[in-house]
Amino acid sequence: MKQSFLFLFTLPFVLLTSCKTQSPGSKDAKVRESQGVYQYRDEGPARSGTPTSPFYSDRQGVIGRNGMVASAHPEASQVGLNVLKAGGNAVDAAVAVQFALAVVFPSAGNIGGGGFMVYRDNTGNAYTLDYREKAPGKATQNMYLDSLGNVRPGLSISGHLASGVPGSVDGMAEAHKRFGKLSWAQVLQPAIDLAEKGFDLTQRDALALNRIKNDLTTINPGKAYFLKSISPTDTTTWHKGDLLVQTDLAKTLQRIQSQGRAGFYEGETARLLAEEMKRGNGLITEEDLKNYHSVWREPIRATYKRYNVITMPPTSSGGVALVQLMRFTEPYPLKKWGWNSDSTVQVMIEAERRVYADRAKFLGDPDFVKVPVDKLMSVDYLRSRWTDFSFAKATDSKAVKGGNIPGYESLETTHFSVVDKEGNAVSITTTLNGGYGSRVVIGGAGFFMNNEMDDFSVKPGVPNMFGLIGNQANAIAPNKRMLSSMTPTILEKDGKLFMVVGTPGGSTIITSVYQTILNVVEHGMTMQQAVNALKFHHQWLPDKTTFENGAFSDATIQTLQNRGYILEKLTNTLGRMDCVLIRPDGSYEGASDPRADNTARGY
Ligand code: DON
Repeated sequence: MKQSFLFLFTLPFVLLTSCKTQSPGSKDAKVRESQGVYQYRDEGPARSGTPTSPFYSDRQGVIGRNGMVASAHPEASQVGLNVLKAGGNAVDAAVAVQFALAVVFPSAGNIGGGGFMVYRDNTGNAYTLDYREKAPGKATQNMYLDSLGNVRPGLSISGHLASGVPGSVDGMAEAHKRFGKLSWAQVLQPAIDLAEKGFDLTQRDALALNRIKNDLTTINPGKAYFLKSISPTDTTTWHKGDLLVQTDLAKTLQRIQSQGRAGFYEGETARLLAEEMKRGNGLITEEDLKNYHSVWREPIRATYKRYNVITMPPTSSGGVALVQLMRFTEPYPLKKWGWNSDSTVQVMIEAERRVYADRAKFLGDPDFVKVPVDKLMSVDYLRSRWTDFSFAKATDSKAVKGGNIPGYESLETTHFSVVDKEGNAVSITTTLNGGYGSRVVIGGAGFFMNNEMDDFSVKPGVPNMFGLIGNQANAIAPNKRMLSSMTPTILEKDGKLFMVVGTPGGSTIITSVYQTILNVVEHGMTMQQAVNALKFHHQWLPDKTTFENGAFSDATIQTLQNRGYILEKLTNTLGRMDCVLIRPDGSYEGASDPRADNTARGY
């Protein structure tokens, strides 16, 4: 970080220290209960931390010396751990977890979706794999608009037209081919067993499936997938402990096991998928499937104090945005100000406002649009974006547009982290987009398809399901990848592996990752505390800050409101983090989010 930039940023702090924080006051009218932009439904137990605690719960991290897996589901974490214990490396375990999640966590785990992998080997080499879905070859820029140019509601969200060409199977095959140690058959087998023999639903699994029962029957008429049948003509509700067996999915996984990527992108599975698309007026063809290939991309690397950030470049916006956020924050004494003090929060919100405005203007598939990645992360550019910042008053989002870069032509997700005995680390975020994606189950093949097309900007300025707006850079085009916010990230400290981090949460992914990192590196929390800590989010538009109940003290709320910030208290939660931290003694702390079924397993 350049000295001059530091100075520019610290000056306002000196001025601020004389501002007095308001005393805890009456509950303000402006704090509104809300469902937020994108919200998880939380059927689990209410927050278990003490009412005045800044933590969602008192969960403790899991400590291991030889390997650690943190994922969204206990069965999947166990699969990963077993693979590590059987001599597999972090990539073997990650591939096994991805396939296991497709069975036990069908709301987001997938073979019908896509994702991103950040991999750092134990010598410090880093790689990123983009296995994001692509628009089908027949997709067109205005495919979701009517003849008057209005968005046809829902078409990019549910049903056959909402899907991009899936990337997960190709991604896993690529990752395994390059870095795997165990056989492909070995890493596929646990998922096949779980599909064939079934697994016991958790309470959350059962409630989530019950909630989509209507969509299952209307979008998939005549199919019995994911319904609990009690007779050939009758179904009932799922309960905790019920066994979910997925015979067709097991066969699909077996085809992938015996034929590799061809078991999905060609032959029987491809035929079933293309037939399903035809049945529901979807666009994906066998040709699209055959042509799909994931891409190795150069990781984004940036420094923050003693840390190196290794993260995902476009097609995700997550890495660029995270580095921008951290660089905006770096010059300020957050540690001294304290966790979620008004000054800390204000700097973070203002950084988020500017970063999401840039996201909307500049970010898109780098194979289609020129994304000025280096420029966006440069100190000079960021400094120019900060000139209208003042501690006295919130910046108005209407006045903040994407920055100026000369020469630039305008034109339900899940995360898991794995570290093995040798210190190789994998950070993967993968998704169908919304919970259970498009809710289309491929007949005969038994898996959900994504609704990732909604991550494109279907019309300039029209918000997607996460309230994000976009522009030409993220317009639909045949074979183009839709922009993502997924932010799988690895941190080094003094050049050594330090943290593996990531989360689902749509547009809130970037800010949850940002806060979790700062919680550790600035506020001295353990990995699990950083995950447990309550979170907040701002994304430029809409111009408001949403926060988990308890994330801000009454005094902070009062001060921020006096400075013009619109605050919205969420009725549920932000983030489902799954992370690993390397502790000073070399042991691993696995941290999984207490907000859902997330589980860390280590040895
Ligand atoms: O790629 C993205 O940014 C979104 N499709 C992620 C969706 C998501 O995180 C939903 N789940 N929680």
